[in-house]
Amino acid sequence: MQGSALCPGSFDPVTNGHLDVIERAAPVVDLLYVAVFTNMGKSPLFTAAERVDMLRVATAHLPNVRVEAASGLLTAYARDRGIRIVLRGLRAVSDFEYELAMAEMNKQLYAELETLFMMTRPAHSFLSSSLVKEVARWGGDISGLVPDHVSCRLREKFGTARN
Ligand code: PNS
Repeated sequence: MQGSALCPGSFDPVTNGHLDVIERAAPVVDLLYVAVFTNMGKSPLFTAAERVDMLRVATAHLPNVRVEAASGLLTAYARDRGIRIVLRGLRAVSDFEYELAMAEMNKQLYAELETLFMMTRPAHSFLSSSLVKEVARWGGDISGLVPDHVSCRLREKFGTARN
């Protein structure tokens, strides 16, 4: 696919599910922006700078991926950069209504913007940053769910030892 695409999210923190989508999307576009936004419905554990940092480390092997912190509307960010494709991972039917509402609102705000969905691998269909944080908070084993450096950051945040 020619041109650039945007993979937006709160990434609090990035999980192996996010990374799977990013790694599969990067080869099919020229440039993939991964933008760390504020989701007004969530209060983040990590600062935007921390989330960007974790994503940059996790995607360092992907030369056409650009990780940035973003604020304001997704459509403004996309318009400023001439981006016309938004890419979102879909885990299960339960994601659908939320994703449909966002895709339609974004289309309303920026008619040339298309939202494309990539199915996450079944192995990641249960995986979310929220669940990872909950398990990490109580010292549970999150290996295999997030990259090792993210798991360290979570343990530091919660002051929990490796279980
Ligand atoms: O990973 P998330 O929390 O599901 O991502 C949601 C996100 C950050 C993509 C969404 O909240 C968003 O687009 N925020 C930016 C502000 C915006 O444009 N809101 C209107 C969305 S229709």
